[in-house]
Amino acid sequence: MKKILVLYYSRTGNTGKMADAVAEGARAVHGVDVELKYYATPEELADFDAVVVGVPTYHHDMTVGMKNLFEEAAVKNINLEDKIGATFGSYGWSGEAPRLVLEIMKNKFNMHIMEPPLLIKYTPDQAGSEKCKEFGRKIAEELKLQT
Ligand SMILES: Cc1cc2nc3c(=O)[nH]c(=O)nc-3n(C[C@H](O)[C@H](O)[C@H](O)COP(=O)(O)O)c2cc1C
Repeated sequence: MKKILVLYYSRTGNTGKMADAVAEGARAVHGVDVELKYYATPEELADFDAVVVGVPTYHHDMTVGMKNLFEEAAVKNINLEDKIGATFGSYGWSGEAPRLVLEIMKNKFNMHIMEPPLLIKYTPDQAGSEKCKEFGRKIAEELKLQT
């Protein structure tokens, strides 16, 4: 079965709420396996067919843990080529982090990225949660289309 990783970091819980809803949306699609994780090693990334990263924006940047993960994956030459890559995250006013991760997925790892990233201002409300579920569902369906 095709496997999706939803990997996220969240300091105050907002991106965590998004991650729960993204995973729920992806799980609603039959025939894909979805894992929701707060931590993954670079090697683990290669075990999945789609890597969906949730990252909030702090100081106009992605968080240190997420930066280190992709740095380490690059150093170890982890092969993520042609896997699906997608990103999302909560933000307050500028929201750069998901785009920065998506750029690395595309330019460094040659992943098949899904644009645009999903951004939600602060805590997702009902409509925001629905957007997250829809985002997860779309990724799972895109993955099922790949042979
Ligand atoms: C110290 C600090 C710096 C922040 N810097 C930014 C920023 O540069 N751009 C932005 O859009 N939001 C910024 N935010 C807002 C957070 O992205 C926002 O609170 C978000 O909901 C946090 O997500 P989390 O609950 O998943 O950690 C900052 C918040 C704090 C506390």
